[in-house]
Amino acid sequence: MVKVLCSNHENTDGDVKSYAQENGQVFVLETAHTTYAFCVRESGHLEHLYYGEKIDVHYDLSAAVSSKCKYPGGNLVNYSKEYSSLTLETLCQEISSVGKGDVREPFCVIEHVDGSYTSDFVFDSFEVHEEFIKSDFVVDENDFTQEGTAEITSENSMVQLTGLPTAHHPTQQLVVHMKSLGRNVFMDLYYEIYEDCDCITRSCQVRNQEDGKITIHRLMSAQVDFRDCDYEMMHFSGAWVREMTPETIPVSRGKIINSSSTGTSSNRNNPFIILKRSDTNDDHGKCFASNLIYSGNHYECAEVGSFGKLRFVTGINPNGFSYGLSAGETFVTPQAVITFSENGLNDLSHHMHEFVRNHIVRGMWAKKERPVLLNSWEAAYFKFDEGKLLKMARNAAKAGCELFVLDDGWFGNRNDDTKSLGDWTCNMQKLPGGLKGLSDKIHGLGLQFGIWVEPEMVNVDSECYRTHPDWAVDIPGMNHSEGRNQRILNLTRTDVRDYVVEEMTKVFSSADINYVKWDMNRIFSDTYSDEFADQDISQQEFLHRYVLGLYDILERLTRAFPEILFEGCASGGNRFDLGILCYMPQIWASDNTDAWCRAGIQTGYSYGYPMSVVSAHVSGCPNHQTLRNTSIETRFEVAMFGCLGYECNLADMSEEDRERIYQQIALYKKLRPVLFTGDYYRINNGKRTYFGDEVYEWICVSKDRKNAVAFQMHNMAVPNMPEVTFQAKGLDDSVVYHMSNRILKYNVKAFGDLINAVSPIHVKQDSITHRIISKFVKMDGETEDITASGSVFNHCGVALHQNYGATGYDNEVRYYQDFSSRIFIFEAVEV
Ligand code: DGJ
Repeated sequence: MVKVLCSNHENTDGDVKSYAQENGQVFVLETAHTTYAFCVRESGHLEHLYYGEKIDVHYDLSAAVSSKCKYPGGNLVNYSKEYSSLTLETLCQEISSVGKGDVREPFCVIEHVDGSYTSDFVFDSFEVHEEFIKSDFVVDENDFTQEGTAEITSENSMVQLTGLPTAHHPTQQLVVHMKSLGRNVFMDLYYEIYEDCDCITRSCQVRNQEDGKITIHRLMSAQVDFRDCDYEMMHFSGAWVREMTPETIPVSRGKIINSSSTGTSSNRNNPFIILKRSDTNDDHGKCFASNLIYSGNHYECAEVGSFGKLRFVTGINPNGFSYGLSAGETFVTPQAVITFSENGLNDLSHHMHEFVRNHIVRGMWAKKERPVLLNSWEAAYFKFDEGKLLKMARNAAKAGCELFVLDDGWFGNRNDDTKSLGDWTCNMQKLPGGLKGLSDKIHGLGLQFGIWVEPEMVNVDSECYRTHPDWAVDIPGMNHSEGRNQRILNLTRTDVRDYVVEEMTKVFSSADINYVKWDMNRIFSDTYSDEFADQDISQQEFLHRYVLGLYDILERLTRAFPEILFEGCASGGNRFDLGILCYMPQIWASDNTDAWCRAGIQTGYSYGYPMSVVSAHVSGCPNHQTLRNTSIETRFEVAMFGCLGYECNLADMSEEDRERIYQQIALYKKLRPVLFTGDYYRINNGKRTYFGDEVYEWICVSKDRKNAVAFQMHNMAVPNMPEVTFQAKGLDDSVVYHMSNRILKYNVKAFGDLINAVSPIHVKQDSITHRIISKFVKMDGETEDITASGSVFNHCGVALHQNYGATGYDNEVRYYQDFSSRIFIFEAVEV
């Protein structure tokens, strides 16, 4: 909750501003386990006091904590004669600006009507809002069609931001109004509290009440000034098929910048970051995290200034960005979400997971388990016809899939990736009955039907481009660069947005479509909008206006088709962010379906995002991205931790593999409730063991802690390793659990010519005899059957059967080659 504390207990009927300044008013934001506090200094500046574990705060916090610097030295800038001891460069602040002595990373840079860049924002007034009002961007999960309103209906209602998606159902909102001294430029700081998950969102609005135009060159969403700099930054970088690789670097004098310039939130650097103490690990220690509810260029900077304090800012990337505000206009930043934990990174992740599940994802699918799907992409790419798809779908239905997804290639002349984006009419040669015909047949098999679209794009070789070349983003008269042979539609234009909404409305209504995969396969180049010149809009506004245009489209379409399950995708994880998740409850996390790579990528996402929003598929072998061979069981065991799908041609698979898939899906459906809603813990995040192999281990524990599912995977078989253990996390110490594994059978061929060690006749490897024997002889895998208390599993760890090591094999030995994995299932038992 928000507490406003003052040294002077008398009620103020007078001037809020001078009262707050004279009395050192303290604003305290409390969540279940954290406290965030700042105060108004005599000068009117907001001094950041504290963000960390919950503390007992009284009005005297500012006297105890705020800066006591009286005679600032050397060449620091003294703020004013009246406040000569105040130097903004040394002060922890809620927002910083330029021109008044603070030379660290600014929160805002504004070019004023007179051309000056100096701003000096001081406290003006505040409001605390309790009542939650649905904005246009918040849709109740129980009543998706209900129209929201952004109007303020009572004095105590939350002011909603517009144009950008926002988190929903905060506990309370604090709005602090600031004014730039000597100017008619105002800034409103929004703080929203999410008590249940220990998160706070911050955002801000600038209002221009000058007579002329001002230009925003930078406006961050959040700033947190830490009083020391003993931190490390953990960030998540990568590229296509290499998303979310964590790296930890100590912050030191100077700056660490994590940003994106692709026009999307990007697979280069995700906007989610962590700042932690160097001794913090998954289970212990203090840590702070931040993410941005935004899908465009972002910027996170950790700067250690000359006085040993760490400043963190996050917001829209100021590089290449500016935004003009004419008289009376306002600009709103995206919300940043911040959280703190004193209990390590797993706990920090839980805060973010709950925030995403309860306050970001919305609509009918928010709390609904996701269907197991079969996607046609890696199974067929562009080469399919209705017969081939139906064959795949029949096998999918038999295996227990619930949804069939027709990926790229169903429209126009789309037989490769050079043409037809923009022409959203069904290719009748491939699908003679159109989408409707196919969808009816798919539904007839008992499956839901989904399709792929990439509505933001156009190929030059398309009817759409031939008719409307001006709709594509380019700079007239200049050479244009393309990505994946395609151009981007100019979503800053209303007519283009209307076209996209109309076309997609036609497609989504043309058949019984239950799921849509919304793809976006290139990054921006040659950004320019012809229209801007006539309207005195800077081209530096282009990328932000594009993102707003995209949100407008997504808002309209998700509202019009509330029952469709939308999945975001941008060549995999090139736009995996909280902005997209406000409209689409899940995102295709990576085009990399290799099980080992995926274990790493999914672990990376797990720091900031719940697995319930991460789509993960079992694909063919050798893997199409790495040519690596992994078993169908390992591929499943990695994918089942996300929203499970299959992306391979089931029709072409062996009967044995199809049977395995049938069993996998049956098991997944039983475990899905725990996996979808449980608390996910990283046990090992790719750690190199003593033996030189690397291990991933996760566990997902149901909210009532009666059930859990755990995963273990090593990249290398280690010879002569007789002892294998597994230690859990998150189980209830006082509960007794039965732990079992999936009991598998192994094809005798998997042992190669070792068959001759037991066979009475010599069997030539891969011979017909070998193949015939392998049809009938299956080797039993190990059975784990352990009953122990949660405290034994959590703190002591249990012994598993040993791995195969050339010294004998039976059902008390694990068949454990390179890239093997195991699933362990925990059930609470009465004793
Ligand atoms: C990129 C996506 O990430 C893939 O899954 C697939 O949908 C292709 N685009 C289709 O072009």
